[in-house]
Amino acid sequence: MFCTPLSDFLNQHFQQNNLSGSLKETLSAIINACVAISAKTRQGALSGVLGEAGSGNIQGENQKKLDVIANDILINALRQTPMVAGIASEEEDTFVETNEHGKYLVLFDPLDGSSNIDVNISVGTIFSVLKKPSSGSLKLDDFLQNGRNQVAAGYVLYGVQTQLVFTVGQGVFGFTLNDNNQFILTKNDFRLPESTAEFAINMSNQRHWESPMQNYIAELLAGKDGVRGKNYNMRWVASMVAEVHRILTRGGVFLYPFDYRDPNKPGKLRLMYEANPMSLLIEQAGGASSNAHQNILDIQPTGLHQRVAVVLGAKEEVARVNLLHNP
Ligand code: AHG
Ligand code: MN
Ligand code: MN
Repeated sequence: MFCTPLSDFLNQHFQQNNLSGSLKETLSAIINACVAISAKTRQGALSGVLGEAGSGNIQGENQKKLDVIANDILINALRQTPMVAGIASEEEDTFVETNEHGKYLVLFDPLDGSSNIDVNISVGTIFSVLKKPSSGSLKLDDFLQNGRNQVAAGYVLYGVQTQLVFTVGQGVFGFTLNDNNQFILTKNDFRLPESTAEFAINMSNQRHWESPMQNYIAELLAGKDGVRGKNYNMRWVASMVAEVHRILTRGGVFLYPFDYRDPNKPGKLRLMYEANPMSLLIEQAGGASSNAHQNILDIQPTGLHQRVAVVLGAKEEVARVNLLHNP
């Protein structure tokens, strides 16, 4: 029987690990906003949230109505949370200063997997929390910290169930939203197997990949007859939140590699609010992450919307990708 509400878990977990009360409040504010986003998502057409917003973000992507709604819900909630100094979002051109005396910075992808909203497939919110490194007025540099500095990271998956998964650096925990809009602990400490026979990649980009990536996927496709000596299965949801949740739950490896489609973009996914938080979760659960050359958490960021190649999940597969790229 599952019976531990999120608030009880947080009180205990933060006390046990000697973590700050203001971080707990920051995390709670993010999560409460996600409960509101979940409610909008669940209503779909009934709450008028489907379809295009008719606008674009700074990254040249068309915004869906729900991208904008989720972004507004999060920003409004965090403005009212005094310990949050500022936010950065996929949907905002630059950072937004929220509270002059705040201690934390919250970075988020308000709605991940937007292409799936209108077809009723899982979407989610991804978040990352950093400490504001210096006092005084907020500046871009304050945000440009590597992923190891994250003091909290997680996501809320609006899927068949609404689930919250997060880490504050002491394991990865999962909660399911009940009928009373309360998150209840349903997974105590995710652990990721080192080996897997399941991979996730958008195969339609194959011809644009670099040759080491072509070779890696060819090895997997060769199955029992190839050098890897086992058959692999493939999944691609096109919502990173859903892929990472599957990998945390039953293992696997996820790849959105570098490709030659646009030489200015070293990948599709964004370092600060997609790759970093997911990499911390995966590492905390015993997996690994890389851009095929170095651990994602060690990359020194240069911009809020910087893109990065992503390989994350089972340690054995991440090591194999790294080896093929750096023989
Ligand atoms: P977003 O909806 O926040 O822009 O992110 C979508 C991302 C990610 O969730 C997913 O892994 C990937 O884009 C899917 O990309 P393709 O459509 O190229 O497969
Ligand atoms: Mn996304
Ligand atoms: Mn998004």
